[in-house]
Amino acid sequence: MNEKKEVGEKAVDYVKEGMIVGLGTGSTVFYTISKLGKLVQQGFSIKGIPTSKQTEKLAIDVGIPLVSLNEIDHIDLAIDGADEVNRDLDLIKGGGGALLREKIIAKAAKTFIVVTDSHKNVDTLGTFPLPIEVVPFGYEMTIKYIRELGGNPKLREKDGNPFLTDNGNYIIDSSFQEIKHPNELEKNLNLIPGVVDNGLFIGLADAVITIIDKKLVTNVRRLI
Ligand code: 5RP
Repeated sequence: MNEKKEVGEKAVDYVKEGMIVGLGTGSTVFYTISKLGKLVQQGFSIKGIPTSKQTEKLAIDVGIPLVSLNEIDHIDLAIDGADEVNRDLDLIKGGGGALLREKIIAKAAKTFIVVTDSHKNVDTLGTFPLPIEVVPFGYEMTIKYIRELGGNPKLREKDGNPFLTDNGNYIIDSSFQEIKHPNELEKNLNLIPGVVDNGLFIGLADAVITIIDKKLVTNVRRLI
């Protein structure tokens, strides 16, 4: 069973003709975008807003027409993956480094659906190191403040250089072991000068499509 394919394609059931759809980033939503592309080829009309350059390229390759956030006044539905999901449908995101655009689009969407394989379900968030997007200026100082909040921060690297986000920023991956108060931590991290945003998505997901005991399950907070 390819869990990512199963949940990724299931999310397409919620996409209706004419919708403006936020397109997430990663290997799970890859299946959502690929299936949407096939429907578009058959005449289904939607517009997509990509959460990363990687997704922009994929959407163009499969033929989904794109709009930018500044051209529209709403997003009907956003679909994205996650790195961890707890029972309250709170998330850690940003494993692919796209957390900032992902959060902007999730927040702007009337409905936000998350698609995850079974390995992402946790009782308490925090085993997956929390991605934090920071401006390059003074990032060592920013790391110091993240450590003071109880994290074990490390600069993300790619090919021996700092990994650069689509926004030209760095990512600090910070393990917090167990995040008992994710709401508080999300806010406290964002109060640090130099932090642009972090991968805690609290109260944003309306539904999570996942696999539990080998069965497809949709956990719903609210769904319109
Ligand atoms: C990218 C993300 C992804 O949604 C998250 O990392 C999950 O990815 P995948 O579907 O490949 O497991 O937040 O920034």
